[in-house]
Amino acid sequence: MHWSAVSGRFTPSARLAVMGDPIAHSRSPQMHNPALQACGIEAQYIRVQVPVGQVAAAFRQFAACGFLGVNITIPHKFEALDAVDVLDPLARQLGAVNTLAIRDGKLHGYNSDGPGFLRSVREVFGVEVQDLRVLILGAGGGAGRAVAVQCALEHCPKLLLANRTVSKADKLADEVTKFSPRSEVRVIPWTDEAVAAEMNGIDLIVNATSLGMKPDDVKLLPGEALTARHLVFDMVYRAAGETPLLADAKLAGARTADGLTLLLHQGAISFEHWFDQPAPLEVMRESLRNAVMA
Ligand SMILES: NC(=O)c1ccc[n+]([C@@H]2O[C@H](COP(=O)([O-])OP(=O)(O)OC[C@H]3O[C@@H](n4cnc5c(N)ncnc54)[C@H](OP(=O)(O)O)[C@@H]3O)[C@@H](O)[C@H]2O)c1
Repeated sequence: MHWSAVSGRFTPSARLAVMGDPIAHSRSPQMHNPALQACGIEAQYIRVQVPVGQVAAAFRQFAACGFLGVNITIPHKFEALDAVDVLDPLARQLGAVNTLAIRDGKLHGYNSDGPGFLRSVREVFGVEVQDLRVLILGAGGGAGRAVAVQCALEHCPKLLLANRTVSKADKLADEVTKFSPRSEVRVIPWTDEAVAAEMNGIDLIVNATSLGMKPDDVKLLPGEALTARHLVFDMVYRAAGETPLLADAKLAGARTADGLTLLLHQGAISFEHWFDQPAPLEVMRESLRNAVMA
């Protein structure tokens, strides 16, 4: 990659980016560029593919090229933790960095996934996580960890964790309990029977696995386990159509939130870290919707 050429190839110059591997699918530029324009900020937001093991080097190059900020996505959110100069306490607790702000040459690392999840729940369902009994499916990856810790920090009364690799959920349960000793935190077996048996005592179900992007992905739970009083949040988003989980939830009459809502709110929080001003949320929402429908 010719880094010096990266920032100057665009008009206006590239000053913000999303980095990941792969990265071509990311909708973040279509969401952030209209926001920059709406705020009169002369900067371009681009995608940059960075291989594993190169996060620290990439951060240094971004700083050298005059970048203001970067979003970090799969698979770099953990590697980014050790590649910043100043780590925000929340990002440390959530265990991942998805937002880099470069100020006076210093690399500041934040996590906007956890707070973005809270804002999404508040906006879509009109409730606070502190009042919800939560089940997280996929409590083994970065997204599941961020949501679990954020729920514990909010002291939600009950947090059930399920994961294909049970040892990862066990480890997360131990960590999460430290953040909220009064919450009921349990790992449950991920079988149809075990999940169905818990559903009466659950308000919010979160899909934090990477399953649901393809229509033939296996079902996360039996559709009949969902009822009209459940809130269902799928962190995954699809370019076309609904995820199977959200389709089942709607059939059951449950209320739903999708991954695009989270993408919007985590993006707005990143914007606030970079520019210390409110993000133009409606511009970003509209642009994201158009980008997904295009
Ligand atoms: N909308 C947004 O803004 C936003 C933000 C963050 C993340 N996300 C989405 O959230 C998803 C997870 O991201 P991540 O960073 O946590 O990924 P990750 O670290 O790779 O974790 C993947 C999770 O999915 C589980 N999983 C994968 N394949 C599975 C299968 N066949 N059956 C059961 N479980 C399976 C894994 O279980 P094991 O532990 O057993 O491997 C793990 O818990 C991704 O789709 C990502 O795009 C969306």
